[in-house]
Amino acid sequence: MFATASTRHETKASLYADLLLQARGLFEGERDAGANAANLSALIFTSLPDLNWSGFYWMKGGGLVLGAFQGKPACVRIALGKGVCGTAARDRRTILVPDVDAFPGHIACDSASRSEIVIPLVHEGAVLGVLDVDSPKLARFDEEDARGLEALAKAFIEASDFG
Ligand code: SME
Repeated sequence: MFATASTRHETKASLYADLLLQARGLFEGERDAGANAANLSALIFTSLPDLNWSGFYWMKGGGLVLGAFQGKPACVRIALGKGVCGTAARDRRTILVPDVDAFPGHIACDSASRSEIVIPLVHEGAVLGVLDVDSPKLARFDEEDARGLEALAKAFIEASDFG
């Protein structure tokens, strides 16, 4: 059983379909990227079970800088190619980390994190930043989470103005 704050779902796919509808509702009539990122990080954090962090890092001056998030205070700057976030931004691919202790160079912002997923945000050929979601449970994320979070990230990019 998968549940958002308000609804229970039989499958992970239906949970993510519901989240996509809720995200589109939150973005409706608002193109400010900072506001939409803040709401998306809160929607993810309060809807998906077993998370301890959900948020954004933005590409600025060749590195990643902390953006809107939910969870404990986190590292502010991450160099391109460093940690899971910097690797996802450099390689422009979603990275699923079932066990953070087994990922060389993982940056431990919250020592409670055991698994992690990072989605790169790519728009018109440029990496804008990443969406990072962490869990205190080992192997919390799978391919369905990857596809679901990628769909949320895509809706966020389409609904927001950058630059
Ligand atoms: N673990 C990330 C750093 C960001 S915090 O988890 C919020 C990384 O290795 O890039």
